[in-house]
Amino acid sequence: MNSTSILVMNGPNLSRLGKREPEIYGSLTLDEINRGIAEAFPSVTFEFFQSEHEGALLEKLFEVEERGGCAGVVLNAGALTHYSIALRDAISSIRVPVVEVHLSNVHKREEFRHHSVLSAVCIGVIAGFGVESYHLGVRALLGRD
Ligand code: DQA
Repeated sequence: MNSTSILVMNGPNLSRLGKREPEIYGSLTLDEINRGIAEAFPSVTFEFFQSEHEGALLEKLFEVEERGGCAGVVLNAGALTHYSIALRDAISSIRVPVVEVHLSNVHKREEFRHHSVLSAVCIGVIAGFGVESYHLGVRALLGRD
């Protein structure tokens, strides 16, 4: 039996986790977060991808869509969440389900973070639970199997 495949994808500035505003985003690096996810769900095959570039994120989504067999994407798009119509259109163009996640509770923060242009094309949104937001995103996808 093939194991479930999930893509965990992070956008701009999330490569800086650990150094970046730890009081907001915590002290773990992205590698440590990704390792924790893989350890928490040993039966899942994960692909981890991060880019500072919008286009690279779109291309990764198209790649998993065309390849087939991906149960879903856990996506922290960083600031692109708030303005990238290109990313939104890419998510709507694929069948692979996408869960929007955020480390911080964006609704408690600056007004410009309160709106996501992605939420309406994602299957759900998880925000404010730190690293646990990613784990909850994975669980949400597994619950759909
Ligand atoms: C974030 C929230 C965004 O507003 C911000 O631009 C980020 C990280 C989060 O995980 O809390 O880069 O997506």
